[in-house]
Amino acid sequence: MAEYIIHGGRKLQGEFTVHGAKNAVLPIMAASILTCDESVISGYPEISDVASMKEILADLGCRVKCAGGIMIVDSRGMACCEVPDDLMKRMRSSVFLIGALLARCGMAVISRPGGCSIGKRPIDLHIKALTQMGVRIEERDGQIVFAAERLHGADIYLDYPSVGATENVMLAAMGASGETVIHNAAKEPEITDLQNYLNSCGADIRGAGTSRIVIRGKLPLHGTCYRVMGDRIEAGTFLMAAAGTGGELLLKGADPRYAKCCIRLLRFAGCTVKKTDEGIWLKAPERLYGTGTVKTAPYPGFPTDLQPQFAAIMTCAEGTTTIEETVFENRFGFMKELVKMGADIEISGRFAIIKGNDFLYGKRVSAPDLRGGAALVLAGLMGSGRTVVENIEHIERGYSGLHRELWMLGADIDRCI
Ligand code: EPZ
Repeated sequence: MAEYIIHGGRKLQGEFTVHGAKNAVLPIMAASILTCDESVISGYPEISDVASMKEILADLGCRVKCAGGIMIVDSRGMACCEVPDDLMKRMRSSVFLIGALLARCGMAVISRPGGCSIGKRPIDLHIKALTQMGVRIEERDGQIVFAAERLHGADIYLDYPSVGATENVMLAAMGASGETVIHNAAKEPEITDLQNYLNSCGADIRGAGTSRIVIRGKLPLHGTCYRVMGDRIEAGTFLMAAAGTGGELLLKGADPRYAKCCIRLLRFAGCTVKKTDEGIWLKAPERLYGTGTVKTAPYPGFPTDLQPQFAAIMTCAEGTTTIEETVFENRFGFMKELVKMGADIEISGRFAIIKGNDFLYGKRVSAPDLRGGAALVLAGLMGSGRTVVENIEHIERGYSGLHRELWMLGADIDRCI
């Protein structure tokens, strides 16, 4: 299995342009089966989750061509509504096919979706919402069959602002008669990107980015040319990598509006951060300061997807940082690996108390999931000596050429099989 070999202690310096957002392009690719024409999607990241979604679309009968950073999806030949088990299991994003297949075919046959092991990750909110739209759901032989003779609009109240459930209802509602209103919808920017993609195909969706989204059922949609938004989580990861190594970074391609929480926190930790015409500029202090209590929350709160990376850079800060993880119930798995490197962390339920040390030791560590793995890379960049990060297939699900990008910024990092 491939590994990253890192020799830490070097400051990151230079400029970096983020790739397209993983959590935007995946629902958009699922949505592309709602068009009766070609969708030309640009700016997508070359990551394994995109490759998996391409395989799923091809397996459903779509034609997917990629060249020079441009993806063309033609779903006219789609002839199937069942997603193979092995492909379903590879990632959480396969769950978006439920809504898209229901809208297109009136049926979806899936097994339980995969994804990072950061919690139970049920789909009860998806099921409760789709049932209100006339979908019958039954489990048989390890599969879940979603079927609707007549998908109809509904007033949906989400018990929790679930990103996936919001997106799934948006997709299913495209094939429903009448209007669907989602209350307590998730407000993540990736949902706005999905709305913008669908509206560019002729849909009539309003309100994404707020807690109330109104979708008018309308199919088929026409084709489009669409550029995916920049990845705000990749942006935060690189800003934190520069902050943790005492470096300086000009970050391009990310919308500063979507990084407000991260920027505020890094300023509080002692960094100088400025929004310039070119992007977001960060200069780190020699040593970061502990920030007291940090709580993850649905957007626009501090993103749970940056919690592990922030925890990693706080291990060498001056002072204490307490992290409260409120979104996933099991997202501290990476911390035992940080402790192996010398971090002083005490975990109690959803709280992790991090007492800043002078340094981390390079060690052999294992990535438990995508963002936890990214956190271990940041720790390796900060650590003294050699760090080997195993199981990097988790990391490469969501970061395109991470080792190459960090090497370009001055890191001593290599990818070895
Ligand atoms: C999306 O996951 C993202 N993944 C996650 O990013 C991100 O962490 C998460 O939203 C929160 O922002 C993609 O977009 C592909 P949720 P999702 O439904 O949709 C519970 C990454 O690293 N819940 O908002 O699965 C759930 O267990 C990944 O890029 C239910 O209880 O997140 C969790 O505790 C990790 N029942 C909370 O809600 C449900 O039916 C938030 O989940 C659905 C969710």
